[in-house]
Amino acid sequence: MKQLIKLEINGRVYDVPVSPRDVLADVIRKKVGLTGTKKGCGMGDCGACTVLVEGKPILSCITLAITCNGKKITTVEGLALPDGQMHPIQEAFVNQGAIQCGFCTPGMLMSAKGLLARNPKPSLYDIKHEMSGNICRCTGFKRIIEAIEVASETMSEGVK
Ligand code: FES
Ligand code: FES
Repeated sequence: MKQLIKLEINGRVYDVPVSPRDVLADVIRKKVGLTGTKKGCGMGDCGACTVLVEGKPILSCITLAITCNGKKITTVEGLALPDGQMHPIQEAFVNQGAIQCGFCTPGMLMSAKGLLARNPKPSLYDIKHEMSGNICRCTGFKRIIEAIEVASETMSEGVK
């Protein structure tokens, strides 16, 4: 039996019919139509599906959509600044060459956003620890870590 739930995604409210077993990643991608969030393993192992729920990174492939009823969700589509410019984290990923195939990137960006919101000046250890749940098969992680360091500096200088 379907139940209507309310999700506020990137500032817009959606009323979505879901069944109790629907996971948030599928609802975001298939019912709301925001396909920036990727589904890789579907088992909580790769981090590709990371979105923010009430500002905290969660794995949307193992989160039941029904548990998010009434909550605020941010996906990669909601990361850009209000004037349409890239978020400093996105800009740093581009400038540091932290993107190759791009499949992991939305999840990486959302995990990094959650980290920098909670800890604006993370140490190398903090970055490695926080990002350890996000797998990238292309970049070797070094440039991703550097991008997060650059974003941290840019954001703390209030450049954007
Ligand atoms: S798709 Fe969610 S952790 Fe891999
Ligand atoms: S850029 Fe290809 S998986 Fe990370």
